[in-house]
Order: sequence, then C-alpha cells, then structure tokens
Amino acid sequence: MAKVGTEIFEASNILKNGGLVAIPTETVYGLAANALSEQAVVKIFKVKKRPDFNPLIVHDTKEKIKQWASVFYLEAQILAEKFWPGPLTLVLPKSKHIPYQVTSGLETVGLRVPNHILTTHLLEELDFPLAAPSANPFGYISPTEAQHVVEQLGNDIDYVLDGGNCNIGVESTIVGFEKGKIVIYRLGGISVGEIEKVVGKVEVKINTSSNPKSPGMLKSHYAPLTPLILLDEFDPDIADQENTAFLLFNQSLSKVSKDRQFNLSLSGNFFEAAANLYAMLRKLDNLGFKQIIAFKLPKESLGDTINDRLTRAAV
Ligand code: TXA
Ligand code: MG
Repeated sequence: MAKVGTEIFEASNILKNGGLVAIPTETVYGLAANALSEQAVVKIFKVKKRPDFNPLIVHDTKEKIKQWASVFYLEAQILAEKFWPGPLTLVLPKSKHIPYQVTSGLETVGLRVPNHILTTHLLEELDFPLAAPSANPFGYISPTEAQHVVEQLGNDIDYVLDGGNCNIGVESTIVGFEKGKIVIYRLGGISVGEIEKVVGKVEVKINTSSNPKSPGMLKSHYAPLTPLILLDEFDPDIADQENTAFLLFNQSLSKVSKDRQFNLSLSGNFFEAAANLYAMLRKLDNLGFKQIIAFKLPKESLGDTINDRLTRAAV
C-alpha cells in the first residue's frame, strides 16, 4: 500500500530510483515519474491502464521548464509569463532529451509549471522533470484529494505526497501552436476568455471523436460509474424520478427532496464549482443512486470547462 505523507525527501528518493509518486497540483493529483527515464515512464502507462497513444504532460519549475522544448514561440512565452505557475499546458516542439515514450511518438511535448508548494519544492530537488498524467485509472474521474489516489491506485504506487485538496479542481487548459495559429486542445482551469485577453482570438479545437493527438479528449472520459444525464434545464416532469441525485449550480429544486440535491456552488461561483466538481461526482458515485441528473452551467468563466467535463461524463 502506498505511504501517504508530506516528505519531499522520501518522494524524491523514490523518483530518483525510478518509482512512481502521486503529486499534488492546483488542478488534480498527478501520477509522476522521471520524464527522462523510459522505464519509469512505461510504469505510468501500466498502472493507469492508459493506451500508449495518449501522451503525457511534462512538469518542471518555471526556471527549468524551457529546456524541455526545442523551440519556445513568442506567444508561448507571453502565455507562460502570464499564467505559469498555473493551470496552463503548452504544446511545443520537444527537446531531444524527452523520450518518445512520454510524447507517444509525437515531435511535440506538453509542458506545465504546476502551482503547488510541495510539488514546486519536489521539482527543485530533482535534476529531471516529472511526466505526470492525472492519477486515476484511465477514463475515471480525476483525483482532487490524496485519499482519492489511495483508493484507486494505492496498491500500485509507492508514495502519495499529500498536499490537501486541489484548489482549481479541473485539469489544465492545453494550448498548442499550428502554423502561427494558437489552438486550444482542452478546456481547463484557465478560461478561453482569459487566454484571449492576453494573445487575442484563438481557435478552439477540442475534439469530439478520437483525435490521436489528444486522446484525453476522447468523448467518454472523466466518468463516474453511475449513469449521468446532462440536461440544459430542469423540467418539473423529472422531479419524481426514482433514486436520482441532482447535481446543481446556484439553484434549488422545490419539487425535489433536499437529500437528493447536490450543489456545486450555492452562490453561483464558477471557481468554487470547478473545485467541487470531481469530489462531488465521486461522492455521488459512492452513494448508490441509480442515476445522476446534472444541468449545464452558464457559458461564462469556467462554465464551459465544467460543461465539457459533464458532457464527457454523461452517458
Ligand atoms: O492539470 C493537468 O494537466 C494534470 C496535472 C497532473 O498536471 N494532468 C493531466 O494529464 O490532466 P492527463 O494525462 O490526464 O492529460 C494530458 C492531456 C491528454 O489529453 C493528452 O492527449 C494531452 O494532454 N497532450 C499531452 N501531450 C500532448 C501533445 N504533445 N500534443 C497534444 N496533446 C497532448
Ligand atoms: Mg486525465
């Protein structure tokens, strides 16, 4: 069983010896290994049961990260300056030191500087970057607490660095560059609007089918085991659906008993809703409801990101 603690020294020793450590970030917990070691990286795919065509993100400190790209475009530098450390992944041509196991054979690599004090200290200790996908079995909800990781991957990893609850709660926004154009591959913890304020209009190319470039975007992903139905709005006819939980944002349903209503944010705060989303889906999954009915959030701030995750979680 994985040990859970806050010992940077212990975590760094395991990583230096080619082992796996779950690390806290501001978005979700990552399942980390030495990104420069092919053998260590292969273990990540095994433990996660992740298809090998799905590339990993490489994490390092702001001081060290740039060496892992062979080209760092001007727009990438502007975004990095504004949003790192933080929930932004930049897809750039990879440096030759990054093995193809990390990038699933692609010539590009996803780079990110996480914003969590324990993981920053850990990265400062190491002389290699960390490859880390979210620390959940492939296809399931990402973990936002150390305990989530223990429940699902505890038998397969050596150490969980416990950094408390992830305060952003949804994965990073992934940005790439195609022939001078800025493209968003995954909606995440920074809204498209925030990015456009800095670099102007961008193209949003989040996929729908199985784009081999970003299989993290596969349609069914981030999904609870309990069937989830996503609706545009409440309809009184569904109030008496049996054994059903309602996942809400800033609303309460007068026709539904209180013990079946679960609110992402009572005050309508999008950041609070994002931070609560995955823990609430896990909780609902464990309560034994027959189904979960969720409603789309307004399309502003992180509403689009949350709607994206709910859509992928839905049946
Ligand atoms: O917030 C996050 O990004 C978290 C924390 C742990 O940093 N990580 C995370 O990793 O969400 P993961 O593996 O669950 O999702 C990584 C996504 C996948 O959709 C993958 O396809 C995409 O990043 N990706 C990685 N490298 C890429 C590349 N070179 N080109 C296009 N997409 C890439
Ligand atoms: Mg993931």
